Amino acid sequence: MRIGIVGRRGSWYVTALQNVLARRGVDAPCFPVTRLTARLGGGTPGVACGGEPLDSCDVLLVRAIPGGSLEQVIYRMDTLHRLENAGVRVINSASTIERSVDKYYTLTLAEAAGLPTPRTIVAERFDDAMAAYHELAGDVVLKPLFGSEGRGIVRITDADCAHRVFKALELGNYIYYLQEYVPHNNEDIRVFVINGEVVAAMVRRGKNWKTNIANGASAASLVLDDALRRMSIDAVRALGAVYAGVDILPREGGGYMLIEVNGIPGWRGLQSATGIDVPELLVDHILNGMR
Ligand SMILES: Nc1ncnc2c1ncn2[C@@H]1O[C@H](COP(=O)(O)OP(=O)(O)O)[C@@H](O)[C@H]1O
Ligand SMILES: [Mg+2]
Repeated sequence: MRIGIVGRRGSWYVTALQNVLARRGVDAPCFPVTRLTARLGGGTPGVACGGEPLDSCDVLLVRAIPGGSLEQVIYRMDTLHRLENAGVRVINSASTIERSVDKYYTLTLAEAAGLPTPRTIVAERFDDAMAAYHELAGDVVLKPLFGSEGRGIVRITDADCAHRVFKALELGNYIYYLQEYVPHNNEDIRVFVINGEVVAAMVRRGKNWKTNIANGASAASLVLDDALRRMSIDAVRALGAVYAGVDILPREGGGYMLIEVNGIPGWRGLQSATGIDVPELLVDHILNGMR
């Protein structure tokens, strides 16, 4: 059996997965997604990395897809789709990654599944963005559509500041993704789901309103009540993910809001807060599905 890992060679995550797979006797080469070569015609393998064909893998575990130009990102996703079409099981699937990497699309699916989401307005035009800022009561969180670890997310509470930031974004032809600011006592909840089951959850306490661990938040293990468990599982199912990290904001005064679902979730912080061994569980799930 061969399980390829799409990620950065030597990274903490790739090494952890390779160690678990090696103990199970599974060949687990790592393929950086930026080094793929695709061929058509001539009867050669479709997709290769340094001469090694990816088509020969039974499973491809997608651990990292770095940002890039529109062409680069689309080509990388095309390649994952192509491998799926050729019979390789890609985890998470190319469609799930596309859905989850895009915060807007994720929330549309979550809302359609009946899950609570913050009021959010997405626009292309400067004027529409300013109108959205006022519609959201002049206290908004502006996010890159594709982003992680809190990078590039800003809170705007001043109309002049909104004007200046939105004008700058207009020059770069960005999309405006604006969300009502949800007061949350500088805490949020990360839930890790594998195969439709919650395997661990943690509460992250931020140094400020941005509660990413990359932003200095501390993490503590959390036991979920049924409502939160259901909400997390439903969110992951809405994206068709085999495994995912779900971010939920506890609103001050009560209630929960789903803000994103990570289809390529990290687990380093979660692992040290909860003691859970994500690579073991993930590999167990994948190998069970192949028996
Ligand atoms: N609408 C919001 N209101 C208040 N805080 C928010 C809101 N959206 C995000 N945050 C804070 O910012 C953090 C990062 O937002 P998130 O949407 O999860 O993006 P990222 O992909 O960068 O983690 C969240 O964990 C939360 O602490
Ligand atoms: Mg997040």
